[in-house]
Amino acid sequence: MAKTRVAVLISGRGSNMAALIEATKAPDYPAEIVLVLSNIADAGGLDTARREGIDTAVVDHKAFGKDRAAFDRAMHELLVAHKIDLVCLAGFMRLLTPEFVGLWSERMLNIHPALLPSFKGLDTHKRALEAHAKVHGATVHFVVPEMDAGPTIMQGAVAVRDDDSESALAARVLTVEHRIYPEALRLVAEGRVTVVDGRCLIDGKPVPDAGTLMPPA
Ligand code: GRF
Repeated sequence: MAKTRVAVLISGRGSNMAALIEATKAPDYPAEIVLVLSNIADAGGLDTARREGIDTAVVDHKAFGKDRAAFDRAMHELLVAHKIDLVCLAGFMRLLTPEFVGLWSERMLNIHPALLPSFKGLDTHKRALEAHAKVHGATVHFVVPEMDAGPTIMQGAVAVRDDDSESALAARVLTVEHRIYPEALRLVAEGRVTVVDGRCLIDGKPVPDAGTLMPPA
């Protein structure tokens, strides 16, 4: 069967993108990354993608000034030109217009470094520590117009340690991100994820709880 054609949108180092690329190398993986698109011309992840022989593109948001719709249209045209089936946001630091999100409804995934709906937005690890959270983690979800919302496809948890620093916690969560994003993309590409009443079902069943993905210490 033809593989699902995926574009990864990045703004930075692209470690989640790299994890997705690695996963696609397994012969039975149902998706292939055919385009890496960045809004930042010198995003580190672009070099990684080029080394892997993947097409890259830059759509510089600054060239569009305040016209978010025009920026999104430029990205959409590239995605269509590459015959993209699914979009993965991976550290893509631009808000998207509802129109763009609507065009990719249930075909656009995001990874967020927190157990949503807790800690939407930025500085999630710092805020989790300040809130004395005992459990923290990451969420892969379908993108909806509201930021860091949308049906959860997969979550992975880590225990927060008493002596955790922001960077130590971030590193442990990132390890989880690199596990769950490829797994979530696999499920979506295999057509096993449905959205019913605003929540995801996998093979018709509720998404497993995040603790089942907690990596062994
Ligand atoms: C990750 O923590 C991701 O969850 C968040 O932005 C960060 C991107 O890191 N959305 P990377 O570029 O994938 O290394």
